[in-house]
Amino acid sequence: MSVPSWHDALNAWADEGLGRLQWQRSLAEVTTLKVGGAAEAFIEPASSVGLASAWQIAQSAKIPFWVLGGGTNLVVADGGLPGMVVHLRRGFGFAGPRVPDDPYWHVGAGCGTGRLVRLSLEHGRQGAEVLAGVPGTVGGALMMNAGGHEGEIGPAVRWVEGMLKGKVERFSQEACGFVYRGSGFPKGMVLTSALFEFPPASDVAAIKAQVKASQARRRQTQPLNMPNAGSIFKNPPKHSAGRLIESAGCKGWDVGGAEVSAVHANFIVNRGGALAQDVVTLAHRVQKHVAKTHGVVLEFEVKLLGQFGASS
Ligand code: EPU
Repeated sequence: MSVPSWHDALNAWADEGLGRLQWQRSLAEVTTLKVGGAAEAFIEPASSVGLASAWQIAQSAKIPFWVLGGGTNLVVADGGLPGMVVHLRRGFGFAGPRVPDDPYWHVGAGCGTGRLVRLSLEHGRQGAEVLAGVPGTVGGALMMNAGGHEGEIGPAVRWVEGMLKGKVERFSQEACGFVYRGSGFPKGMVLTSALFEFPPASDVAAIKAQVKASQARRRQTQPLNMPNAGSIFKNPPKHSAGRLIESAGCKGWDVGGAEVSAVHANFIVNRGGALAQDVVTLAHRVQKHVAKTHGVVLEFEVKLLGQFGASS
């Protein structure tokens, strides 16, 4: 079987030092749910130049170009992902004020959310604490306007920069189109960094205490000791997905190695050996049952990547 020419181009890309490349990299290993097949090519660009050049290769070869943030909110199909999977971590992990006491922080999409929260508190800032306990990277958090009961990250954003069709584009806060667990970035845009405004905290100790409390609450109310992908469904307006699923009697339901968590009904955990298809079939069963019981159609919060079969 002949090797596609983009393989040669991408090998050359890695040889030139534009980034790291792994062929047939297991995506179960880089996602928190620990399911899914391999990426045909898994790349970690060292900079925006490496990112743009990889995108060009994908574009010329007409192959898919997937973007992986922290891998915390994803279900990757068992058949894996053809083409390139881009992981923005190396080269995109910067965070902090440009000069001491500057409230404006330029933060890379690959910076971990936990690290951003920690740094902002070290600098006596407020605004990032809404991400306390939310796993993943800043890129993923921006894409889905992540947050918790205390708020979401969108309001702290001043602009977001990314690569769209090989070009760098900047979106003002208004143009980002943040909504509950979502944003309005154009399809195919790869978020690379953002400028945040983190004003001085009026009471750092109080924010630290709030972060601690919210982390402790999560440890108590979420099955964090088992592989999971966070909330499976968004909370519908005026409802809680977890409560609806629990009261419909779905806690403990399972398909293969996937189970509706007994700790938090809006989490599906991988008991070991779950297939991505098990997770998706189970989620669809829950969605159907909640619709029948409560008349509410839950909307997926997790992103499904790749080809899935019909759920029975
Ligand atoms: N509840 C149940 N049964 C359950 C789970 C929850 O009745 O099995 C009830 C709880 O008792 C509570 C209500 O549902 O009255 C809400 O639950 P919880 O406080 O756990 O928060 P949540 O609305 O389910 C949201 C975010 C989480 C975030 C937490 C804490 C969504 C969909 N989920 O959860 O985000 O961690 O608030 O801030 O917005 C994520 O997005 O992946 C995520 C984990």
